[in-house]
Amino acid sequence: MKMSTGDNNNANSEIIEPRSYTLEKGEELRFEVENESVQCQLIEGKAELFGTELRLEQKYTFQKGAKVAVFTFHGCKLKLYGSPEVEYVASETPMTIYLNLDNSLEGLRVTAIKEDKYGPNVLVAGPVDVGKTTFCRILLNYAVRHDRTPIYVDLDLGQGSLTLPGNISAVVIEKPADIEDSFHITAPIAFHYGHLTQSKNTSLYNIIMKALAEVVECKKTNEPSTKYSGTIVNTSGWVQGYGYQSILQAIEHFRIDIVLVLDQERLYSELVRDLKSKQAIKVLLIPKSGGVVSRSREFRAEMRDQKIRSYFYGTTTKPFYPYSFDIPFAQFTAYKIGSPNLPDSCMPIGMKSTDNSTKLIPVQPSSSSSSSILNHIFSISCSTTEQDIDKVITTNIYGFIAVTQVHMDRQVVTVLSPQPRPLPKNYIFIMSDVQFVDLE
Ligand SMILES: Nc1ncnc2c1ncn2[C@@H]1O[C@H](COP(=O)(O)OP(=O)(O)OP(=O)(O)O)[C@@H](O)[C@H]1O
Ligand SMILES: [Mg+2]
Repeated sequence: MKMSTGDNNNANSEIIEPRSYTLEKGEELRFEVENESVQCQLIEGKAELFGTELRLEQKYTFQKGAKVAVFTFHGCKLKLYGSPEVEYVASETPMTIYLNLDNSLEGLRVTAIKEDKYGPNVLVAGPVDVGKTTFCRILLNYAVRHDRTPIYVDLDLGQGSLTLPGNISAVVIEKPADIEDSFHITAPIAFHYGHLTQSKNTSLYNIIMKALAEVVECKKTNEPSTKYSGTIVNTSGWVQGYGYQSILQAIEHFRIDIVLVLDQERLYSELVRDLKSKQAIKVLLIPKSGGVVSRSREFRAEMRDQKIRSYFYGTTTKPFYPYSFDIPFAQFTAYKIGSPNLPDSCMPIGMKSTDNSTKLIPVQPSSSSSSSILNHIFSISCSTTEQDIDKVITTNIYGFIAVTQVHMDRQVVTVLSPQPRPLPKNYIFIMSDVQFVDLE
């Protein structure tokens, strides 16, 4: 580990001088932003951030909570402005392994084009905080830099890197991720789940995962470039019990042929054992980066909140101006998915309780329930009130609103929406457990 060559590293000084770093080939500058933003500038040479190349001279700004690594394959000079909580240069990184892996994936894409076959469908698995999402970002960026258009599938509910937490989604990646804001997502396919962990409703999770895989398949049929480019599937860090079972199901639904297990030998050997009969599937154990940082429960909650806030309000560099308007109760057709199953012991003798986990339960604002919808996120379904209600759970969603007030006297709900009214005609809202308190 090397310290900066700058002359002022003192957090107490009023004006913090920029620090200059000279990185050798294969080194990485890591820093964590605790409070005020930090800027990084490439002065000479070439460098990349999680697979996206930095532009010379441009100052990139990183906000509170960012944990960053600027890596160079060729050597470079950097400047860092501001006072991150941690800042150091590391010379041991797994980036060469990641690059070799990308070369192999690219080889498979070239073969896929020649033989009109499917390109590599990759699933990234591993326990929490091993860098799964970052690793997916690197692989996707490298693929795009080869002029490919891979499909990114995010099955992680907790952080929701493509849409909002509580949903699963897929999108075609056509441009490298933005250095400051990651991928700019347009028109993702998303399915509503409504909770932050898969265990809350396993039947629903299985159904929407299968529905998402079918949409991905359809996309590949219509756009051969996505078929040749392949898929990268990101998963959650819950790798035991149902968490593990859902990884096996994802491997089946998304026709995965390469499973990359980050860091954990136990998960790797379990997957090797359980996939032994499927010889076409390769399972590889990949080292995690020493830079990956563990995040506390509070930090994760804060990041989730920040994610939702930026869905409505954008970021400091790219602000959005959301709309607030009233929807009369009569037009607020809302459901939640699933209600607890009755235990068999509560049923008449000889009868078994029915599975309610994927039933649509109407949600009506009333004086008794007004507080239960307040501050909740609602997905806007692409299916309408005129269509078969059973299809709602396997229909993708347009976007999200948050209920910010419930007025029993005027019989309206006030919502925060990224889009002005009118919302799509005959829309159906689906309530999520995920909440957002609008303090703006
Ligand atoms: N090489 C690196 N150097 C510095 N920070 C890194 C590096 N790789 C990842 N990080 C940071 O570590 C944190 C955790 O990484 P990431 O979100 O990719 O992990 P994860 O395994 O997907 O976590 P989760 O289990 O919550 O989904 C992120 O804030 C990320 O920016
Ligand atoms: Mg992740």
